[in-house]
Amino acid sequence: MGRLTVRDILKMKGSRKIVMITAYDYPTAKLVDEAGVDMVLVGDSLGMVVYGFPSTHYVTMDMMVLHTSAVSRAVKRAMVVADMPFLSYEHSRREAVLNAGKLVRAGADAVKLEGGVEIADKVEAIVKAGIPVVGHIGLTPQRYLVLGGYRKRGKTVEDAKRIIEDAKALEEAGAFAIVIEFTAEEVAAEITRRLNIPTICIGSGRYCDGQVLVLHDVIGLSETPPPFAKRYANVAKLILEAVRSYAEEVRKGLFPSEEHVFHMEKKQS
Ligand code: KIV
Repeated sequence: MGRLTVRDILKMKGSRKIVMITAYDYPTAKLVDEAGVDMVLVGDSLGMVVYGFPSTHYVTMDMMVLHTSAVSRAVKRAMVVADMPFLSYEHSRREAVLNAGKLVRAGADAVKLEGGVEIADKVEAIVKAGIPVVGHIGLTPQRYLVLGGYRKRGKTVEDAKRIIEDAKALEEAGAFAIVIEFTAEEVAAEITRRLNIPTICIGSGRYCDGQVLVLHDVIGLSETPPPFAKRYANVAKLILEAVRSYAEEVRKGLFPSEEHVFHMEKKQS
């Protein structure tokens, strides 16, 4: 059995919730796939949660290609979606298609772009080139400077109308799913009703076709998780305990013990 396809994801709309989570490297991608998620997102959030940059603006195509290839080598069943980083698709349709192609060659099954009406022509070009596209509307972190920060979207009727227009433009351009981030629940629910393609929400309420979270927020490895994320484990605590125990055993001369050392063959010693 290969990975889930666009057709499989489309069929889930209205029949069962879609589960998406981020992963950025081989071991965690292997684990999230084994846990049975439907889509693994190689998100540009890696700039912040893996590299410690203050925003996703520092993420380059080279970084995304490398992380996408690591994730792709690990994932057997889920669909692998790779984020197109800041300034890799905004300038021209040609540049958007060429960069989307690099992510597919690295092992992505689809790419994700942030933006609505203003990038619909790039989405259309990428889909025409044969590459499936996931849209991303509502809060679009790559545009936090013009949005005035990481602010909630869809609080007013005007903003709600803008986000609904973005969703419609992306569906018309050929996107097969849309991530809706940090948007009022009513707005995400309305988009979910109006579109034929699935909506996958993060911080946008309960009435979407699926949910996505950042792995580091889920497992307790983020320093400042967003208010809408839920922590299901405390891996930071486990790492601290393990490394403290290791350090203590080294200092006390307890590690390595007999079981972790090897000796010369008897006749030579
Ligand atoms: O980069 C990312 O992790 C994302 C999610 C927040 C959806 O785009």
